[in-house]
Amino acid sequence: MDLIVRPRRLRTDRVRRELVRETRVSKSSLVLPIFIREGKKIVEEIAALSGHSRYSPDMLPYFLETVQKAGIKSVLLFGIPLYKDEQGSGAYDENGVVQQAVRIAKEHFPDIQIITDVCLCEYTSHGHCGMLNDNRVDNDKTLPLIARTALSHVQAGADIVAPSDMMDGRVKAIREALDLSGFTENAIMSYAVKYSSSFYGPFREAAGSSPSFGDRKSYQMDYHNSREALKEAELDLLEGADILMVKPALAYLDIVTKVRSRFNVPIAAYSVSGEYALVKQAHQAGLIDETEAFCEIAVGIFRAGADILITYSALELAKWIDEGRIG
Ligand code: PBG
Repeated sequence: MDLIVRPRRLRTDRVRRELVRETRVSKSSLVLPIFIREGKKIVEEIAALSGHSRYSPDMLPYFLETVQKAGIKSVLLFGIPLYKDEQGSGAYDENGVVQQAVRIAKEHFPDIQIITDVCLCEYTSHGHCGMLNDNRVDNDKTLPLIARTALSHVQAGADIVAPSDMMDGRVKAIREALDLSGFTENAIMSYAVKYSSSFYGPFREAAGSSPSFGDRKSYQMDYHNSREALKEAELDLLEGADILMVKPALAYLDIVTKVRSRFNVPIAAYSVSGEYALVKQAHQAGLIDETEAFCEIAVGIFRAGADILITYSALELAKWIDEGRIG
């Protein structure tokens, strides 16, 4: 007689289903991006990122209260200055918008982990991520400014700096600058694998950081390549990166898996503004259910191998974790 092997109905009810889940999402592995703009008493909705606002530094603590209550423990800050110049000097001004925000945040919520995005593009009049030389980004001239920016964030109280500029050698330049000033404990989460992507569209509207000419293809990666991702990740690790980030996430889950299996450091995936907007807009059009979609996407990213998920849906996910919809 043939033996019939049955799957023991492990997937039939919720309790059993939860017991045998391979992938779990916990609030402590989520990071919420927040936009900080210069000024006072400003909370300004971002049309391109429904549900998100730009906060002036003085208003940040009010929002962080919500973040803390939801159980989200880490945030990623982006700065939007009032004035921009060729050198992006607002990025490394000790009273710059991010530096102010970090100080206020740490004063009121010392337990929230602050990660800062380190880049010049929001601060340069031309919108490129570095210094220009004949309309081309000059990698080596940019490095000291990136290092100075990172140091000023850490001096203000940031726990982790996340360089997103993609200049070669920036992780080393930052590590040296931090160590020389005694900030040996502060970690670097490098945007090691950052593709040149159309999914950054809403972010550029939110942060006003579109390049005024050309594109970022000379310093962001071509999405036809995946071996190059491993090379970039390896270089950043050798230069001293503590956490490697892959960005965007959804169209790059194979890259998350590859980077995860090759390197034994924490891997972060950044589900970017365009990925969030896709779901939000489709939900608002009545085409898909955002709760289901955001949960499915988050679990998919962790299943691919990410340890950390940076997502604009972090607050919603926290609520759905509380409600037992994912976990
Ligand atoms: C700055 C930066 C960008 C994003 C994160 N850091 C914009 C860009 O590279 O154009 C995009 C994040 C998102 O779309 O959510 N260099």
